[in-house]
Amino acid sequence: MILSKDFTKSVVILIAATTAVAALSALVWVLPNVLLAPELAKISQAKPLTALELAGRDIYISEGCHVCHTQMVRPLEPEILRNGRANKEADDIYEFPNLWGSKRTGPDLTNIGRKYSDRWHAIHLINPRDVIPTSIMPSYPWLFNTVLDGDDIADKMRALRSLGVPYSDSDIDGGRIQIVGKTQGEALIRYLQSLGVDTMHDREQ
Ligand code: HEC
Repeated sequence: MILSKDFTKSVVILIAATTAVAALSALVWVLPNVLLAPELAKISQAKPLTALELAGRDIYISEGCHVCHTQMVRPLEPEILRNGRANKEADDIYEFPNLWGSKRTGPDLTNIGRKYSDRWHAIHLINPRDVIPTSIMPSYPWLFNTVLDGDDIADKMRALRSLGVPYSDSDIDGGRIQIVGKTQGEALIRYLQSLGVDTMHDREQ
């Protein structure tokens, strides 16, 4: 009785308990990842996205594609049979923020790259019902009317470089030229076509 009174009434106990729980989480979840980061980078097959793919990734995020699609294949047989190779920790070293998602209204897209042609993706994004008559995915026709200027891509690439993505100065300088004049839809398709391609030849699952 006294103890529960202390916990609810004492700010000091509340702060001390919160700090203890947060410190334990940092120790168990954050610290091992920080320490393992160089090892993961050595074994990772991930390659940094090109400037155009990166622009496409931003559209994927801003349109909320990750709300209906996961990018996380769990290492379970039915998952692998359906969605391809299971994710490994080292796959995501350049993902800021990660797009694992938590809800699958549509299929997992971890390994979608090269499954369909660019044309298929364009038709599907403009109106999913044209290729999958029963689809409940929204249409995104404006993506193919909106042209990108690429003005902010160098800053984005610099920000990612500060987080550890190995972009060179020439990658950053050449970023805008890859993007300028392309539509949002073209950039998004480049991003989708890159998914899972780096790890395609990884036979060990
Ligand atoms: C409201 C939920 C929802 C949203 C938001 C959504 N999708 Fe989908 N998506 C689906 C459903 C359901 C399917 C399965 C039917 C189909 O293929 O259209 C699907 C299928 C797909 C497929 C084909 C997957 C395969 O393996 O055949 C791709 C690619 C895709 N979506 C990309 C996107 C992109 C890119 C966006 C954002 C611009 C997006 N989706 C937004 C629900 C959604």
